Amino acid sequence: MNVLIIGSGAREHAIAWKLRQSQYCEQVFVAPGNAGTAAFGTNASIDIHDFNELAKFACDFNIMMLVVGQEHALVEGIHDFFQGSEYLKHILVVGPKKAGAMLEGSKDFCKTFLQKYNIPTARYQTFTEATFREATAYLRTHSYPAVIKADGLAAGKGVIIAQDFEEAVDALEDLLRNKRFGNASSKVVIEEYLHGIEVSVFILTDGKEYVLLPEAKDYKRIGEGDTGLNTGGMGAISPVPFVDAAFMDRVKERVIMPTLRGMQQEKMDFSGFLFIGLMNVNGEPYVIEYNVRLGDPETEAILPRIKSDLFELFRALHDHKLGEFELEVDPRTAATVFLVSGGYPEGFEKGKEISGLEQVPADVLVFHAGTRMEEGKLVSSGGRVIAVTALADSQEAALAKANAAAEAISWKGRYYRHDIGFDLKPARLV
Ligand code: AMP
Ligand code: GLY
Repeated sequence: MNVLIIGSGAREHAIAWKLRQSQYCEQVFVAPGNAGTAAFGTNASIDIHDFNELAKFACDFNIMMLVVGQEHALVEGIHDFFQGSEYLKHILVVGPKKAGAMLEGSKDFCKTFLQKYNIPTARYQTFTEATFREATAYLRTHSYPAVIKADGLAAGKGVIIAQDFEEAVDALEDLLRNKRFGNASSKVVIEEYLHGIEVSVFILTDGKEYVLLPEAKDYKRIGEGDTGLNTGGMGAISPVPFVDAAFMDRVKERVIMPTLRGMQQEKMDFSGFLFIGLMNVNGEPYVIEYNVRLGDPETEAILPRIKSDLFELFRALHDHKLGEFELEVDPRTAATVFLVSGGYPEGFEKGKEISGLEQVPADVLVFHAGTRMEEGKLVSSGGRVIAVTALADSQEAALAKANAAAEAISWKGRYYRHDIGFDLKPARLV
């Protein structure tokens, strides 16, 4: 069977790499892909918002499975579009329809859902420009820090942690009145700040049955010691030491089960990944957000730990047989380190020649993000450029291997964090 993956990051490279290992998967196409995905399949230079072009490609290349790596196409309704077409409806789509994608597409929708189904989350209220005065009044009595979020998709930049009332009102001005994110900030959610440690939990679900994937922790800040600006993700670790059986039981009982009940009651007809961003507050899981696709860079750490055939897992989703699927997981630790362009997440230069890949040991995985070929040379073409993943029996050993590989790969200005996993070490010693 031929598969089309939508996206162009290291996450999509990892999905392509994993699917390519399946005996059932004939050809893998990635739209638009990057220099790394070209090595595992064929890149299709298509704008992912252009559903007609994607549909035409799917027909021309006899695509039987569509794996939507990133959220925009899902929120824009690519699944509904494929299902609504006589020529495309046989294609197995991994990723929910628009109704389910709203869990990620609107923070207000997500919070309403969480509250309705009694799923632990931070207390909140939603405001618009018309209720700006009420929002200011609400902030006056709010505890600090306070969290202010643009309602719609804002590429991870729509969340402001305000330390005091003045900062909070500035953020509100920026989002609601200056429309910093356009329509995506026509509503804002103001919520209570949760003190704890974050973890990303993933399930694949048809809205009734589900398979739990390995969890991961990602490192969003640019600077070592979790300092500086937020990025798309600087690294990841899986498994996460504090996620023990007791914590996971609470996640299942208080978060996953009521989420599935909610999906059924709201008739979302969900089908795909659900990424549950959790805060562990003194051992209790609180939902920070849902995403309706896999995480990046978490995917680069969790897929290498999955021994089962990913294609078969997707088929089980389609056949409503996830309940019987026994996921085989490698117990070793996977450590992912992201190499980025100097200056990222602010201004950075592209087009730098990348060297040293031949020095990376064969057992370290290299997933491309912002890369492209230029006159036969591999060059950087984005902020996050390459993710390296190493597996080992301990977190220390996995990190040592991943860091050594990161050091070997180079270009002018490349940067990476040397301290991924730093906060998890004490937990391992307990
Ligand atoms: P989100 O886009 O909702 O995942 O928020 C982005 C990041 O902001 C999260 O990964 C957290 O690090 C932080 N964050 C969001 N909401 C809260 C909250 N209520 N309390 C503390 N941190 C939060
Ligand atoms: N790692 C966070 C995300 O993919 O949104």
